[in-house]
Order: sequence, then C-alpha cells, then structure tokens
Amino acid sequence: MCGIMGYVGHRSALPILLDGLRRLEYRGYDSAGVAVLNDGHIEVRKTAGKLAQLTEITSGPGLLHGTVGIGHTRWATHGLPTDANAHPHSDCGGRVVVIHNGIIENFLPLKEELQARGHTFRSDTDTEVIAHLIEEELYGHEQPGTGEPPRPLRGLGAERGNAETRRSGSLRITNHESQVTLEEAVRRAVQQTRGAYAIVVLCSDQPDRIVAVRQISPLIIGLGKGETILASDIPALLSHTRDVLVIEDGEMAVMTASGATVERLDGATVAKQPLRITWDAEMAEKGGYPHFMLKEIHEQPRALQETMMGRLDAPGAPELDGVSYSPEFVRGLRKLWITACGTAYHAGLVGRWVVEHWAKIPVEPELASELRYRDALIDPQTLTVAISQSGETADTLAAAREARKRGTRLAAITNVVGSTLSREADDVLYVRAGPEIAVASSKAYITMLVALQMLALDLAVRRGTVTPPRVAHIIQAMKALPGKAQEVLQRESEVASLAARLADREHMFFIGRGLDYAVAQEGSLKLKEISYLHSEALAAGELKHGTLALVTPGVPVFALVTQRHVYEKTLSNIQEVKARGGLVIAVAYDRDTEITKHTEVVLRIPDTLDDLAPVLAIIPLQLFAYYVARERGNDIDQPRNLAKSVTVE
Ligand code: M6R
Repeated sequence: MCGIMGYVGHRSALPILLDGLRRLEYRGYDSAGVAVLNDGHIEVRKTAGKLAQLTEITSGPGLLHGTVGIGHTRWATHGLPTDANAHPHSDCGGRVVVIHNGIIENFLPLKEELQARGHTFRSDTDTEVIAHLIEEELYGHEQPGTGEPPRPLRGLGAERGNAETRRSGSLRITNHESQVTLEEAVRRAVQQTRGAYAIVVLCSDQPDRIVAVRQISPLIIGLGKGETILASDIPALLSHTRDVLVIEDGEMAVMTASGATVERLDGATVAKQPLRITWDAEMAEKGGYPHFMLKEIHEQPRALQETMMGRLDAPGAPELDGVSYSPEFVRGLRKLWITACGTAYHAGLVGRWVVEHWAKIPVEPELASELRYRDALIDPQTLTVAISQSGETADTLAAAREARKRGTRLAAITNVVGSTLSREADDVLYVRAGPEIAVASSKAYITMLVALQMLALDLAVRRGTVTPPRVAHIIQAMKALPGKAQEVLQRESEVASLAARLADREHMFFIGRGLDYAVAQEGSLKLKEISYLHSEALAAGELKHGTLALVTPGVPVFALVTQRHVYEKTLSNIQEVKARGGLVIAVAYDRDTEITKHTEVVLRIPDTLDDLAPVLAIIPLQLFAYYVARERGNDIDQPRNLAKSVTVE
C-alpha cells in the first residue's frame, strides 16, 4: 500500500525522500509525489506513474536546498491514479500539505461541507479534505467581505497546468498568522474524520516540524543525529538509523530536527522508548540478484536456520521465546483458530495439519477477511494464531481483534518486530526472515511453516501427545531443513528450463492431498501473482468433480506426491490427468522411484519427514513462478495491481 516518508534535519530533504520512497516501492503504488519547504514556501511535485517520473520532475536545483519535506507513493483507493490525485494534497492557500495512507470513510459529507464554505478541491481523493480541515483550524474559514485572497501555491500548478494556482471562489483566509499550533490544528481536524489512516502534515508557517497521526496504518519514526525521519516501513529508515519509535493507534507525533514528541489524540503525553532494529541496510538491497524475489528465494536456507536458532537446542521440546501460555491453558485448550490472508493463510493450512497431527487439537483455519465477519464460536478455551509477515494487514488485524473480543488468547506469527500484530498479541513468535521486499512472499512463507511446526511441537509436548523419541526425531529432521533447502536451490536450472518450456501457456493446475494440497495452493498463488497466468489448485480427489473438464492435451498439471499415506490415491489422480492428455509435472522425493513410471517430468526434493515436506516442496514452485514471470517479461518484484502490505480492507 502507500509508502510514506518525512524528513526534518540538516541535510537536503529531497534525495532522502526519494531514496526512502524507492525502498518502499515494493509496497506497490501507481503515483508518487513530494513536498519540500523551500524559502518559506511549500513546493509540491507529483505525478502518476513510477518514481522515475517523479525523479525527473524534481531534478534541477529548485527543491534541493529544503531540509524539511514529505514524500508519498500512492496505491489508488479513491480516485484514479492521475497527477491530480497523487499526494501530497494541499489546502486552498498552499500553506498546508498532507500525505495519507488509508481511507477517510466520511470524506464525502466533509467535502460537501468544505465546498459549501468555499474551499476549492483539486482532486477526487479522500485525503484532500484533511488539508482543508487543517486550513480551517489554522486560519479560519469563510468570512465573506474580508477580501483577502488566498496565496497562490508555487510549484506543480504553474509548470504542469494543474489548477494549483488559483483564486478560490468565496474562501477568505481570516488569519494569516495562525495562533494555533500545527499539532492542535491537526488534532482538531482528524477528530472530525472517521477511518483507518496514517496522516503526515507539513505547514509553511510552522516550518520546523512535521506532524503525523496514526489511526491504524503503520508509522515509524527514526531518530538520527540532528535529523528525524518518518516512514511507513522499516527498510526506508535503515540507511539512516536503526533507533525507531513506533507510533501506535490514536497517537500523534511532532517531529523536529532534534527528535520527536508523541502524545495521544486526547492530549495525554506518551513516554516512548526507542526500539533497536536488528536488520541492517544491506539486507534490504538486491545483493547482485536481478530481483528481490530471487534473492529472497535464495535466502531461505539462512532464514530457516535463523528462525530455528536457539529454539530447538534442548532435546525434549522447542523453546519458544515470546510464547508464554501456561501449562493449564494448553491442557484446557479445546480448539485452535488460525487466521491470515494470502500466503500467510496458506502457511496456516500447513499449521492446521501439524497441530492436529502432533498435538491432537482441532484446528480451524479461516481467511481473516471472512473470520472478521463470521459469527465464529471463539471462546476463552481457544488459541487464535494470527499469521502475518508484515503484522499490519488490515483484515488480519481486524480478525485478530474480533477473536480477542470473544475471549481467545492471541498468538502472533510475524516477521516484523514492533508491528501492530506483535504488539497486540499475548504470545509472539517472530519468524526472523529478514526484510521481505518482493510483493510475492517466499522466505516469509517458508519461515512461517517452521514457526508453525515449532508451535505444534511445543503444544504436543505440553499435552503429552508425542513421545520423547518422536520429538527428538522431528527436531533432528527440522534442523536438517536448511541444508536440504539449499540442495533444492542447486537444482534451479532444471526449473528454469521447465519454465522456459511452459511460459507461453495460459492455464495451469496444481493438485495434491493433505499437506501437498496446502502447498499446491501456495504454488498456484505464486504463479498467478507474478506470471499473470491463470492457475488453480485443487485437492487431487476433487479434480474429477468438475475441473477435469478443463484438462485438455498439453495442459500442465503439477502433482505433489510427498505424502505417503495418500501416495497411491494421488497416483490415480495423475492417471486421470494423463488419460486426458494433460502434462503432469510431479514434485517428489529423491527416493521416489515409482513416480517415473507415471511421468517423466519430475522436480525432485531431498527426502524428509512428510510433515516437513512443504518446506522443501514449495521451493521448486516458487522458482517456477519466478522464471515463468521472467520469461514473460513481467515486473516480478512489483506485480500489477498488488501491494506488499495490504493495510486497507
Ligand atoms: O503481511 P501479510 O503476511 O499479512 O500479507 C498477507 C498477504 O497479503 C500476502 O501473503 C500476499 O498474499 C502475498 N503477496 C503473496 O505472495
């Protein structure tokens, strides 16, 4: 979703803003803009399209010496992705500019009221109402007859023909030198709005500060030496500082070059301790790979290793830092709910299997966007596991909160320290994947799988549903996973050749049973989101109940066959596909010699316990999706229409 940057300090703000926005590009966007304070005026540049276009229209000396500024990449919700709708948005007088991530639900009635009072709007966005509301709080509103025209805005309007330089119809600025502080004006303005958002405001009359408010959408403030930097996500700050303040819902921050003060919107002061981020800037760079996604796929062995580090060293049970449920709670557990979106949900499907299999607790995985509106029978004897790489996905947070209201204990599995989900949960299991920049999730997924396996094992040990030798055996097999993942990656060229052969197809299918079905769903999503091919995952036994009608000669069908207890059943499904001329590509263990009797195209993975197989079986499918997308010339790290972190409903 939208990327947000802000800078107050001693350096030129523009390059810092552009660099930060570039590091947030992975969140997905369709327009971009900056506002920089220059000699007492705010200069705005904004454009539809990518940062390359913004860089072009900001080049030249004009904006370079301003040391205070804000920047934004927009993912359209209200209004088309046009120049006019790009952020920042300004008030009538051009003295207040606003950037915003999220949605102002009551923007229409507010806009109508503001227009009736003489404000002129230049965009279709919900954001613009905030700039006008703040303008009124600072300078007053229409007082017909006082005669003072609003000051024209320098910058974008004149050069680009947008109606930024104008005379507003009936608006009269009544108070040129506002007695109201910017923070007070912002507070009063946001109190008139409803919605989920992060808002950042700059005012030319109070040029030493940036004011930011968080109401659900994430905001982080980095504390540097003589400079303070604001961003919507950690990677944008890493090259400047690793000491951050995480702004919480309902809080407002006032940033100056010497730091930031935080208070609640009701005026109460908040004492915040900075958090130290352990990721370094290099981890958020491509490191010689052509795409972040390929780099992240290759980082999986290390990510697995780090996620297990220190947690599987004791022989008898996992030691899960951040998980503190009591033995009595675990013994009394009647059910686990798992909730998440997209890839994280697919990880949850694997979680269901291992928790039921090892800990013998019934598990219900549910998509967060469904769970939040379901009359789900969640009670205090349940544990709800919310899974989210970012820890900021709006639906996942809403589902987790809803579950919490019903009395559940909330456990979070997330990658981002200090994320909203991590702060709201009773138990937090960090996956330690490091920054995941590509929109298509890979290393976060695989680390979620081992996190869920560790959680399942922990529950099983506490409930006495697995014997000590079995626990030791599982732990040993888990510890071997990073090395085996590395072996799968060494077979990358085979997958790349297969992708080159199949890249021109329009439909593909993925089938499997049990855990193989869970992996099939993730393999299919990966392919869809970056290759733009149509694909579908099916429980292998379901094929003959309808979708088999779409299997015609040459249609590729990936068949996962790692689950021994249903192996022969899946072989029968492979035969159903072959009988219709479909091209079967199996994903099978090295030890599986039988499979070659059924198909010659086999993507191999090293042998492991069937319960752990998803961690290895997904890797060739991630690589396949990546190479198909590359063959088709797609924007792999930022696929069309998608955003990394979906912070709106
Ligand atoms: O940050 P989250 O894990 O909560 O994100 C959830 C989904 O939006 C995410 O997994 C999405 O499906 C990925 N783009 C898939 O690769």
